[in-house]
Amino acid sequence: MAAQDLETTAKELVAEGKGILAADESSGTIEKRFKSIDVESTEENRRGYRELLFTTAGVEEFVSGVILYDETIRQSTTDRTPFPQLLEQRGIIPGIKVDKGAKPLALTESETITEGLDGLRERLEEYRGLGARFAKWRATYSIGAGLPSEYCVWTNAHALARYAALCQEAGLVPIVEPEVLMDGEHSLEQASKATGRVLQAVYTELHDQRVDLRGTLLKPNMVLSGYEASERASIQEVAEATLECFYRHVPAAVPGIVFLSGGQSDEDATAHLNAMNALGPHPWELSFSYGRALQAPALKAWRGKPENVEAAQRAYYHRAKLNGAARTGMYAPEMEREAAAV
Ligand code: 13P
Repeated sequence: MAAQDLETTAKELVAEGKGILAADESSGTIEKRFKSIDVESTEENRRGYRELLFTTAGVEEFVSGVILYDETIRQSTTDRTPFPQLLEQRGIIPGIKVDKGAKPLALTESETITEGLDGLRERLEEYRGLGARFAKWRATYSIGAGLPSEYCVWTNAHALARYAALCQEAGLVPIVEPEVLMDGEHSLEQASKATGRVLQAVYTELHDQRVDLRGTLLKPNMVLSGYEASERASIQEVAEATLECFYRHVPAAVPGIVFLSGGQSDEDATAHLNAMNALGPHPWELSFSYGRALQAPALKAWRGKPENVEAAQRAYYHRAKLNGAARTGMYAPEMEREAAAV
């Protein structure tokens, strides 16, 4: 695929008022999510739940793409339309998670390296045949005494760039996801320092490995104080710290930054994105690629019961709409109340 096509797809994914739904939970993660609502994680329940999300009427106004998991990209609706085809028909771009998870990094006590490079060229080809037009690879970093280590920062940056180069070769837009985890008691400044360090290494490796940044998207954490910190930063402080860090470290050639929610409440994730966009314009589109922050209310409404499908779809639609508004700084907390009204 020509570089221009990759750029076009990347731009479509961050079209005005739209963002990405991350529905690529691995079997282990979705089991955890289902457990929280007392639903057994069978293949049919996973399929049914994803069908509920993907068939939500009108959501394409706010959702440009969906990230699928290996099992999900091979599944179909009840009437046998393969999920990638269903999404394309609705104007939503199908994507695929291609990493094989964060595993212990050798000779460290607690750090991780993301695996999945072996055989990736062949897997990308298969996924493209199944309809994927973009991909995702997530690396994770913890903040702590001496963490993240330079060793962890550079090994993950190298792997992310190898993945991104292979994606571009295969005609898929790579979403590059370095996630500095927000668990812990660290300050906003520590989060900013760690995030900046990670981004600097990632862009050095992407450059050295010949990745065309115009055909990529960045999926990072926001700069937040640790979830267990004694003093949590305000919405405005988070927005300003995040922007400052990204202005320093993310080249303007990158068309879009699609944030992960990383355990924030759905309302905080929307408010933070909104506050950043309200401070715009910026060199890149600032959008969302939320998993939990888009799905949490839908999961809670569904609880695995067919009679709750409509309520769950309403909850998902509402969250997508509010995040769509946050794309242009037009979200207001009062809009949360509309959910009860629909
Ligand atoms: P969260 O928004 O729940 O962090 O999920 C996004 C994601 O895709 C993590 O890899």
